[in-house]
Amino acid sequence: MMKLFVVLLVVVSFTGVSSAMLSDDLENLYSSEERLFEKWQKEYGREYGNPMEKAKRFKIFQRNVRYINEMNGKRKSPLEYGLGLNKFGDMSPEEFEKEYLQKIERPWKMMKDVDVGGDSCENLPASVDWREEGAVTPVRDQGECQSHWAFSVTGAIEGVNKIVSGNLITLSAQQLVDCDPASKGCAGGYYFNAFGYVIKNGGIDSEANYPYLAQNGTCKENSNNVVSIDNLLVLDGSEDALLCRVSKQPVSTSIDATGLQFYAGGVYGGEKCSKDSKYTSLVVLIVGYGSVGGEDYWIVKNSWGKEWGEKGYLLLKRNVTNEWPYGVCAVNALAGYPTKKDSSSSSPI
Ligand SMILES: *[C@@H]1O[C@H](CO)[C@@H](O)[C@H](O)[C@H]1NC(C)=O
Ligand SMILES: *[C@@H]1O[C@H](CO)[C@@H](O)[C@H](O)[C@H]1NC(C)=O
Repeated sequence: MMKLFVVLLVVVSFTGVSSAMLSDDLENLYSSEERLFEKWQKEYGREYGNPMEKAKRFKIFQRNVRYINEMNGKRKSPLEYGLGLNKFGDMSPEEFEKEYLQKIERPWKMMKDVDVGGDSCENLPASVDWREEGAVTPVRDQGECQSHWAFSVTGAIEGVNKIVSGNLITLSAQQLVDCDPASKGCAGGYYFNAFGYVIKNGGIDSEANYPYLAQNGTCKENSNNVVSIDNLLVLDGSEDALLCRVSKQPVSTSIDATGLQFYAGGVYGGEKCSKDSKYTSLVVLIVGYGSVGGEDYWIVKNSWGKEWGEKGYLLLKRNVTNEWPYGVCAVNALAGYPTKKDSSSSSPI
């Protein structure tokens, strides 16, 4: 992330020249953007079939670079979130939305129970990070397949399984893509239903046995149920309930991911989300919470690879419920989590 910010600074110094821009400056700007484009293409192994496509992609890239610089130029403190070039550099925001975001539909036609509380939520720790407890597997890259919902579900089950059994096992998102009858595979899916599939199926296979292919496939008949869960509980939409549950285990939820194409780090305050909307478009996994410089945030695991955001993670602002009835980018609105009994003590988590 630091590296990209530095590369971009070079371009910023050119775009800073405004009204009285000489043709020399314009040429400099153009050629520095061209050089950046070449460098970017090399870094991401991007090649284009013909010069017309390349010219089109350069135009989009140029617009993106200027937007990134403009937004970064408005940052008032280093704590504010920043943008950076990444593998999505030659996609227009419209293309990005079409390929990576999905309107999350509800309600789900399946049995699900509402978390009625009963947990002890007093004196929660000031911060929680399930990565430090070894309950979170490495960030994955969904590729050109809208399987974010499947990675959120496997992540939540990986977490509860580690907490209950002590074993961290990477689970098969591909199995959910292939087998969950309520999903559309790489065209998107519904995370609550996917939990329902795992419950009904008696468990889910490991990534090692049933690896991710980033494309639609046929459900394998002979998969192993390596990890099972007992139930899915849905939270009541309040931040208190979400905070309490995240203190106990990683939780699946969906967010409005508008504005995150070039997110490169820092606490995102939902600048592109609408405050009174429950609209969500990306299913993610909350693996903790914390605070920095007086700002409270959620630690959000995404499935766009480790190069996006903070090593694949998003820090999303929290504790602003007065302004955001459903949480920043509707993060509180549709959260749910799997339960699993501890086989040795039989107390459910
Ligand atoms: C994957 O399957 C779904 C239907 O289950 C379909 O809508 C979608 O277009 C398929 N995607 C690809 C890339 O074939
Ligand atoms: C929310 O913010 C208030 C005021 O800044 C602080 O006192 C409180 O501890 C925060 N709550 C959580 C759950 O972090």
